[in-house]
Amino acid sequence: MSTHSKQKRLTTASIRAMKGKDRVVCLTAYTTPIARLLDPHCDLLLVGDSLGMVLYGMETTVGVTLDMMVAHGRAVMRGASHACVIVDLPFGSYQESKEQAFRSAVRLMQETGCDGVKLEGGEEMAATIAFLTARGVPVFAHVGLMPQLVNTAGGFRSLGHSDEEAAKIRRDALAVAEAGAFAVVVEGTVEPVARDITASLGVPTIGIGASPACDGQVLVSDDMLGLFNDFMPRFVKRFANLGPLVSQAAEAYAEEVRTGQFPAKEHTFQPKR
Ligand code: KIV
Repeated sequence: MSTHSKQKRLTTASIRAMKGKDRVVCLTAYTTPIARLLDPHCDLLLVGDSLGMVLYGMETTVGVTLDMMVAHGRAVMRGASHACVIVDLPFGSYQESKEQAFRSAVRLMQETGCDGVKLEGGEEMAATIAFLTARGVPVFAHVGLMPQLVNTAGGFRSLGHSDEEAAKIRRDALAVAEAGAFAVVVEGTVEPVARDITASLGVPTIGIGASPACDGQVLVSDDMLGLFNDFMPRFVKRFANLGPLVSQAAEAYAEEVRTGQFPAKEHTFQPKR
């Protein structure tokens, strides 16, 4: 039975207005049942392109397509009645030109019904963000560690350790906020830089691996639910440990099927007469 409420969903304007007042709670969601469970507790649900790694076993997010984001965006929208829902523009769907970004964003918004899109990039994406927001597309920006740049960055690592890196992240955050982003994800960034950015922007910063200094936090839901038992980055906290529970349930099921204990009488249909 569904437990989600029927109240009207939060808007990108209400998320923006939380700056300086309330901390913004954001989690990723990729499917309808998980969206239903998370929705009452979150301000923002992000259909992140991390789904390529989490659901599809990809090494990076580079192989995620717009079709995949549309399918998962639609699924999440079916399970969300409270939180504002944002869908990621995947790699290659927006970097070529402002017009390409607009076409991709419109496809996501029209085919999923989501409230806005997220894209990675700082100064170099500012003109695109201004173009989109001026044309009715709310943009959630993403600076600091940008997973779609993994092939040019040479891997995933926290940023802002050198003065040069710190200055670049500050410039990026300022540029995307000035261009009209309603909020900014700050990923994998050292605390003093995240703190400076949060103090200087008029829109909320949503941190992931960017310290408590941000205006809100986001985590990949599967990470915080403990569905993976391999590598866990330092910035993740496990609020549950569901991986072993799933494994134990599968083991118990396998045992009962092999021994003939399942299905039992109560799971079996019999003719009515
Ligand atoms: O793709 C994603 O899930 C993200 C968040 C982790 C910020 O970009």
